[in-house]
Amino acid sequence: MKLSVIGCGYLGAVHAAAMASIGHEVVGIDVDQRKIDALSKGEAPFFEPGLTDLLDAGTKGGGLRFTSDIAEARGSRVHFIGVGTPQQKDSYAADLTYVYAAVDALVPHLTPGDVVAGKSTVPVGTAAELSTRIASTGATLVWNPEFLREGWAVKDTLEPDRLVVGVPEGEAGAAAVAVLREVYAPAIANGSPFLVTDLATAELVKVSANAFLATKISFINAMAEIAEVTGADVSKLAEAIGYDERIGRQFLKAGIGFGGGCLPKDIRAFSARAEELGRGESVAFLRQVDEINLRRRERAVQLVVDGLGGSVFEKKVTVLGAAFKPHSDDIRDSPALDVAVRLHGLGANVTVTDPAAIENARRIHPQLTYVEDRDEAIRDADALVLVTEWDEYRRQLPPEHASSLTDGRVVVDGRNGLDAAAWRAAGWAYYGMGRP
Ligand code: UDX
Repeated sequence: MKLSVIGCGYLGAVHAAAMASIGHEVVGIDVDQRKIDALSKGEAPFFEPGLTDLLDAGTKGGGLRFTSDIAEARGSRVHFIGVGTPQQKDSYAADLTYVYAAVDALVPHLTPGDVVAGKSTVPVGTAAELSTRIASTGATLVWNPEFLREGWAVKDTLEPDRLVVGVPEGEAGAAAVAVLREVYAPAIANGSPFLVTDLATAELVKVSANAFLATKISFINAMAEIAEVTGADVSKLAEAIGYDERIGRQFLKAGIGFGGGCLPKDIRAFSARAEELGRGESVAFLRQVDEINLRRRERAVQLVVDGLGGSVFEKKVTVLGAAFKPHSDDIRDSPALDVAVRLHGLGANVTVTDPAAIENARRIHPQLTYVEDRDEAIRDADALVLVTEWDEYRRQLPPEHASSLTDGRVVVDGRNGLDAAAWRAAGWAYYGMGRP
């Protein structure tokens, strides 16, 4: 099927490449010419395992091309909207500028029977508003939220754990469902559940899923705070409650909390939208989820200060990680980088290392020192702080090896990813999050 994907960021680029890989003819469209140039050469403009292979195969005769000319969307049966919805500068609400701009630019190129499928995360009610904007074209607006995780984006797109399509009532909606079933035929044949809902439900599925995940993380981090004043161990606690299938083990890793381009801004936008709807109290807990999350960064900083005897001033602190999570170069709202910046603010000589995110981090925070080589970064550090649980820092850094690089013996484990006993046995003062 001929498809267009408007917006070629983390979501759109992966979607375009994945759709081409299952046999569709796809044009990816973005206003950023630099991104288009890279993608056209088969290069991923960001770190995402598996994406380069798909781009390479797709752009070399595999039915995938990229352009900055929106007119090339004409003739596609489905137009996916995958542009960003960042947090507004002066409020918690989502900034919908890019969504409206993309749809308005698309309108002159739509033909009757086309399907416009929104994938961006938007406040509930946006799809209804967009439906009126495209009404005169004879195209149908549907909402098809995306649940991909960075680092697993290709797999999540090709083998989604569910497909959700919100459609309007009536014939046009039913026709759009049939079209999307065809688009996603391989995943459906592989067993991915395909749920049809109304527009508002589809929009809400996405934000409520992210709100739940954020709440789960903040729940375990709240338990970490209690563990810290009682001498309990939150990692053991998480393991023990996780055996209850109703609770489950996933997303119960206590540490410096969640970040990234989705969870933080999505729970804030959800709060803002609920306020607008007169139901602010229904999700008032999301404010606390946010607050708990931000407190954990401060806690990690405090542990470094305590570990270094009350001050980090002019001490060399090596921060292991900059990305908001491993297998990503994304530093948007990264707790890791925030910890580094706070330590720098306290006068520490901060050295940051990361296998993928240094370039992005340097652009936003040029005041920090960046060292690509892990061992060079660790050399002569007074303290190490693990903030992104890359294997390079978690599994592949034996404490004895760290001891050979520096006389500093303080390690703060912001992700509870290290073997505390092994580090202690090697002579290090180990500080975990919510662990004795
Ligand atoms: C998230 C959702 O998982 C995904 O479904 C949605 O489509 C987009 O938002 P992503 O932002 O890629 O995906 O990251 P995710 O893997 O969910 O991790 C988010 C943050 O939570 C990371 O900073 C991670 O380190 C942190 N986290 C995760 C924890 O602190 N503890 C956990 O137990 C799990």
